[in-house]
Amino acid sequence: MTDQTFDIIVYGATSFVGQIMTRYMHEQFGDGSIKWAIAGRSQSKLKQLSADIGLSGIEMLVADASDETALQAMCARTKVVVSTVGPYALYGDTLVKVCAASGTHYCDLTGEPQWIRRMQARHEDAARASGAWIVHCCGFDSIPSDLGVHFLQQQATKKFGQTCNRINMRVAKIKGGASGGTIASMINMVKEASGDAGLRQELKDPYSLCPPGHGFTARQPEVTMAYDEAYKSWIAPFIMAAINARVVHRSNALSHNSYGAGFLYEEAMVAGEGASGKRAARAISWGMTGAMIGLALPPTRWLLENLVLPKPGEGPSEKQQLEGEYDLVFLGTTPRGDKIRCRVTGDRDPGYGSTAKMLAQAAACLAKDLPGSTPGGFWTPATLMGDKLIARLEAHAGLSFELVEA
Ligand SMILES: NC(=O)c1ccc[n+]([C@@H]2O[C@H](COP(=O)([O-])OP(=O)(O)OC[C@H]3O[C@@H](n4cnc5c(N)ncnc54)[C@H](OP(=O)(O)O)[C@@H]3O)[C@@H](O)[C@H]2O)c1
Repeated sequence: MTDQTFDIIVYGATSFVGQIMTRYMHEQFGDGSIKWAIAGRSQSKLKQLSADIGLSGIEMLVADASDETALQAMCARTKVVVSTVGPYALYGDTLVKVCAASGTHYCDLTGEPQWIRRMQARHEDAARASGAWIVHCCGFDSIPSDLGVHFLQQQATKKFGQTCNRINMRVAKIKGGASGGTIASMINMVKEASGDAGLRQELKDPYSLCPPGHGFTARQPEVTMAYDEAYKSWIAPFIMAAINARVVHRSNALSHNSYGAGFLYEEAMVAGEGASGKRAARAISWGMTGAMIGLALPPTRWLLENLVLPKPGEGPSEKQQLEGEYDLVFLGTTPRGDKIRCRVTGDRDPGYGSTAKMLAQAAACLAKDLPGSTPGGFWTPATLMGDKLIARLEAHAGLSFELVEA
C-alpha cells in the first residue's frame, strides 16, 4: 500500500463512544500531527457530527460493516483503523478479515471473548502474512488491567529480580455508567451462550484467548464474596474480570510465559470493612448474579432490554463522564514471597470518557510509535505497545501508573 492518505480512520465515529473519541482526536491531533478521518455507515450522521464538533478538513468515509468492498476501499487509504462499531460479534467480522488480509493495523473496544477467539482462529494466519497488528480490548477492558500487570511485573523484576507468580487486582474506586452499546454486547453474548453448550464451556476457560498449545494448566482463583486479608476489606466479583483476566493470560503466553507458567490472576471489587462492607459485598454479588439470571431468561431479558437498560446510542451524561474516575490496586507476590503493590488511576468515567482517550492513544501508538519490523498477528495492548502506550496514557489521557511503597 503506497497511497495511504491517513494515519488513522475512526470507524464508528457516530457511536456513543465514537463521538467522545472524535472530539478528543480533534483536541489532540487537530494540529495535524496525525492525519485522520472519520467513517461510519451514515453520511448524514457523520456530517452532523462534523458540524457539531466543528471539524474542518477532516474527511468522511461511508462504509457499512457488511460491505466488504467498501471496507477494502477504506482500509486501502489508512495505516490504522480504530473501530467502535459494536456489538463486534454482530458487526465486526468483515472489518477484521479485511484488515488482516490487507495489512491494515486495527484496534477496537470489544470485550467479547467468544468473538475474539473466532477472529483469532480465522484470521491470525492472514495477519501474520500481511503484517497487520490486530489489537482487541483497547478500552477500560482491558488496558488498565493488562498494562497494570505489565507495569507491576517490571517493578517486581527491578526490585526483586523476579516477576510475581500471583497478582490480585482490587477495584478500589470506580465511578461511571454503562452505555446501550455495551449492554447490547453483553446481551448478545448471553444470547449466543444460551443456545450453545460448546460456547458455555469455552466461556469457563480462563485461557480461552491464549494461543493453541499454550500449556497453562494452573487452576485460576475464582472470586466470590469474601474478606481479603491482604487488602483488609470485603471483596465481591468484578464484572470485567472475565475478559481482563483472559487478556492478561494471553499477554503472559505471547511474552513466552514471562509471568510464569503457573501464573495466577484475579480481580475483585473492594466493598469496604466491617458489617457495612460485608453488606455491600453481598449486594454486589447478588446484584451481579441477579443481572446474569435476568439476562439469561428470555422474558426478563426482554423487560431489561426494552424497559430498563440504556439503548444503543445512549450512555452516561457529560457531567457523569467528567465526574467519573477509577483507582485500581495491584497486589503482587513473587515465588519467594516478596510483596509489591502498584496502582493505576484514571480520570473521567472508565467506560466512555477514559475509554475514548485510551482507544485514541492506542490507535496513535499503532500509527506512530512501533517499529515497522514488528510482526503481524493478534497482539494484546501490553505485548505490542507496553511502555510506549503507558507513556502516551500518562502524558495525554489522564492515567497514572505508580509503585505504592509499603
Ligand atoms: N471495552 C470497553 O471498555 C468499552 C467501553 C465502551 C464501549 N465498548 C464497546 O464499544 C462498542 C460501541 O459502544 P457504544 O455504546 O458507543 O455503541 P453505540 O452507540 O450503540 O454505537 C454502535 C455503532 O455501531 C454502528 N453500526 C451499527 N451497525 C452498523 C453497520 N451495519 N455498519 C456500520 N456501522 C454500524 C452504529 O452506527 P450509527 O451511528 O450510524 O447508528 C454506531 O455508530 C460496543 O460494542 C461496546 O460494547 C467497550
